[in-house]
Amino acid sequence: MNPKAPRGTFDVLPADARLRLQLLKIADELLGQAGYEPFETPVFEDTELFARGVGESTDIVQKEMFTFEDKAGRSLTLRPENTAGVCRAYVEHGMHKLPQPVKLWYWGPFFRHEAPQAGRFRQFTQLGAEALGSDDPSLDAELILLLAELLDRAGVGETRLRLSSLGTPETRAAYLDELRAYLHGREDALSEDVRARLDDNPLRAFDADHPGTRAVMQGAPHLLDRLSADDADHFADVRALLDDAGLAYEIDPTLVRGLDYYTRTVFEFESPRLGAQSALGGGGRYDLLIEELGGPPTPGVGWAAGVERVLLAAGEGEPAADSRIYVALAKPDAAREGFRLARRLRDEGFRVEMEQAGRSLKGQLRQADRIGARSTVIVGDVIDVKDMRSGEQRRASDADEALALVREVGG
Ligand code: HAM
Repeated sequence: MNPKAPRGTFDVLPADARLRLQLLKIADELLGQAGYEPFETPVFEDTELFARGVGESTDIVQKEMFTFEDKAGRSLTLRPENTAGVCRAYVEHGMHKLPQPVKLWYWGPFFRHEAPQAGRFRQFTQLGAEALGSDDPSLDAELILLLAELLDRAGVGETRLRLSSLGTPETRAAYLDELRAYLHGREDALSEDVRARLDDNPLRAFDADHPGTRAVMQGAPHLLDRLSADDADHFADVRALLDDAGLAYEIDPTLVRGLDYYTRTVFEFESPRLGAQSALGGGGRYDLLIEELGGPPTPGVGWAAGVERVLLAAGEGEPAADSRIYVALAKPDAAREGFRLARRLRDEGFRVEMEQAGRSLKGQLRQADRIGARSTVIVGDVIDVKDMRSGEQRRASDADEALALVREVGG
């Protein structure tokens, strides 16, 4: 898929597919080192899971879900995110009986019915990590540092990390009442959209682009100043660990994430290389979600990054390694010998392509050039090995000798 093309189907062409695989390998290595295990959940789940997990008043649930009925009349939804699914699986598989925390990571397709634009798609790929079963602040810090490292290794360049804490639902509820009262007192200056959702979700006012709303929000009270002592300590611990690690961040009390399950730490990495859709990845703590979904009280923390956005910010990257050896056929009945030779060369670890399209010998040599072959093995009554850089051609008496010559020239 061309991440720059706002529209179009989710086709991933080989050059991009290779970059995606590289990112997947980086994630596997990095997250594996920190004890995170790969994990998969289904692409669709009961609609109810997301309505309860992500939150009824969120944009995701209100506007962006691909929801359909199956033949039995059940309402199903293509997953818009994975934290709810991971928590469902944690409960369903009794993972609270495992040593805690349970650390998982995932990669896969997600779906949101948003207006497509550069960096925003209806089908996109998330790479995510979650740690369930402990509220230790070192997990928040560990996960944030892992995402920072992943983005760095992916080559996205400079990023901006915004960090905040949302506290517990109680502190939040009291704060939300205070914020609502503040906003109601200034309703005339607010955008229609913010006014319509003022009672439901007043925090979204911090996100607004509307100039009047922005002016009002300058003077709005901040949740960070209302945290309980426990939550403030937790946040201070997370920050101290990030400071120790030398990771720069900005405390941003206006950071609101588009999902309702967060408690305490929230964070988001942005890239100046991306346009309006600048969030590379984000996440936070969700200490009440598992209980909300019917499990035992179990804290959790995690993040997800948008794979297409990460690759978009990383740019074109290194050109892919091309095929190195081409097996050409000097006559049609050399096909079996050529096929055998190609397999032996692949067994030795070379990248090998062979003539499979009925081309003339001249056409085959042109093709060898096109794919950037280092050497071409020409199979006929005799076998010749051509060094594609020097143009030198040497004759082998049999397949073994041809193999030896290829090893000399290199692939
Ligand atoms: P989120 O911020 O909604 O969080 O999504 C995470 C990332 O997915 C975004 O930062 C963005 O890079 C990418 N993304 C989201 N929507 C789109 C889209 N339409 N097109 C392209 N990329 C997109 C979550 O989903 C949470 N589940 C993260 C989390 C995990 N929190 C705790 N654990």
